Amino acid sequence: MCGIVGYIGHRDAYPIIIEGLKRLEYRGYDSAGIALFDGETLNISKTKGKVSDLETRVVTEIPKKGTVGIGHTRWATHGVPNDINSHPHKSNSGDLVIIHNGIIENYESLKQELTARGYTFSSDTDTEVLVNLIEDVKQQENVKLGQAVQIALNQVIGAYAIAVFDKNKPEEVVVARLGSPLAIGIGENESEFFIASDASPFLEYTKDAVYLEDEEMAIISQKKGVKVRKIKDDSLVDTYVQKLQLNLEQIEKGGYDHFMLKEIHEQPKAIRDTYRGRLLRNEAIIKMAGVEDNMKKFLNANRFIIVACGTSWHAGLVAEYIFEDLIRVPVEVEYASEFRYRNPVINENDVVIAISQSGETADTLAAIKLAKSKGAFVFGVCNVVGSSIARETHAGAYTHAGPEIGVASTKAFTTQITVLTLMALRLARAKGTISSSDFRTCLLELELIPNKVEQALKSDIHISLIADIYKNSLNCLYLGRGYNFPVALEGALKLKEISYIHAEGYPAAEMKHGPIALIDENMPIVVIATKKGHYEKVVSNIQEIKSRKGKIIAIVSEGDEQVTELADHVIEVPETLEFLTPLLTTIPLQLLSYHIAVLLDKNVDQPRNLAKSVTVE
Ligand code: F6R
Repeated sequence: MCGIVGYIGHRDAYPIIIEGLKRLEYRGYDSAGIALFDGETLNISKTKGKVSDLETRVVTEIPKKGTVGIGHTRWATHGVPNDINSHPHKSNSGDLVIIHNGIIENYESLKQELTARGYTFSSDTDTEVLVNLIEDVKQQENVKLGQAVQIALNQVIGAYAIAVFDKNKPEEVVVARLGSPLAIGIGENESEFFIASDASPFLEYTKDAVYLEDEEMAIISQKKGVKVRKIKDDSLVDTYVQKLQLNLEQIEKGGYDHFMLKEIHEQPKAIRDTYRGRLLRNEAIIKMAGVEDNMKKFLNANRFIIVACGTSWHAGLVAEYIFEDLIRVPVEVEYASEFRYRNPVINENDVVIAISQSGETADTLAAIKLAKSKGAFVFGVCNVVGSSIARETHAGAYTHAGPEIGVASTKAFTTQITVLTLMALRLARAKGTISSSDFRTCLLELELIPNKVEQALKSDIHISLIADIYKNSLNCLYLGRGYNFPVALEGALKLKEISYIHAEGYPAAEMKHGPIALIDENMPIVVIATKKGHYEKVVSNIQEIKSRKGKIIAIVSEGDEQVTELADHVIEVPETLEFLTPLLTTIPLQLLSYHIAVLLDKNVDQPRNLAKSVTVE
């Protein structure tokens, strides 16, 4: 949550920061701001709204001059999104300027102490407290900025990625991280440096990046380069420069109207990339380094506990069905936010699987730390390479979905399911709970999934017509059974988050225990009714809806006749093995919510109040 960008070097900082902020807008878009030092003056412009609003405001407020600057796009935590609460924030003297992603939990008590010493505050933010704390330390202890930041951060409880500089010493920017990501790009001849929440803002300038670890800070100086230190004891840390694999096309829309649409259409490739090198059909094996290296732990597990949030939690629910079916070990799926606070019973023979696209979700990270402290082995399924969760877990497997920029998760979900399916199949083979011929059949079918997703995507226009009919609905119900119950939850989440239509997902049979009361002729009900998996039971549920005049949009297997007769609309997906159906039935639900949101003129890629990476609890 919140994106930070900075630049120090010989180029104009303004375009680098503005373009960088646009790429980081997925992290929050309540307000935006920029601070530029033009050689004499520190100029700040900030506004409620998006980076495009900031661009408009800058024109009338400040010169776009300076080779040092920092910028911020905000997802509000402390203080409503307005101009004053927007970052950057200055210290009382006007010398220091800061941007911050995270939360300072003890800001109230720090604020009281600073107020008692004469400091005043114009915003409601914790960030303004932090910049004044740094200033106070700097003055009281008579130390340089880097040391002041180090001392101040030792008084802070919370999470942060910050960048701060002093207008009297603009050749140096100090950055620090705890719980929120921070990357430093090292540019031409090590004489220019980029700072960002992820590497996307500086991809066209450099592929060399240093990722700060938690509890590290760096002093970035045009003359002396990057010096990384431990916040706790100020000791020097060796800097490790990584070569970025990411390229610019991956983070651009590539001709699609929205990132979400691009990412929906990328799923055949993303799924293929996720099993490539792992699924070796000719040899009839699945190879996953993180699983092979820890096979004993997996095979001795009494129980799997899956922790995640949101869409990743839905992928966890699909995995519960797959794991229990294939490896016959009990699985519990927990919201990370509940798990971390409810004193769960965990022991050394539990394997905890943490699922996260961003790898930065605060609740999931905390759940991992808790599980580790109780002796469990923790395995991560993340998309973002090198993310906090990827580093915090004992081992893991990456989904190879590529960058997911649309706030509503699509390809991350299907690739998470792919990784979890591969794991389940690998473990089932090792345990002997699947026969070799069934295993081969599964590998073969899994390899066909990308083509079948391609096929499912062909219903796009048909789905857009259905979307047009139901776009003004106030409520919508999603029903599915077995493997497709989590898909119903995911379909409902997709609709509500981007179109703001109230939607609920239910196991189809639960309908008659309450939700059926909602059904009338105005209520669209999306029912997943593929041939495999309780088909006849779902048909009965459809009959029940029909007799109450509900409007039925059914996701059916190719060639279906029975449901097609009953439903108002059908969307076909190719047939596959039952446990693989979520990879196909998800596709029309993503497209349906996408088209409804577009028809309602909603901001598909940046829905209100949401952010892509939830680094606060
Ligand atoms: C929904 C969505 C969120 C995330 C959730 C967890 O479309 O994107 O529900 O799934 O915030 O995020 P990660 O997977 O990054 O931990």
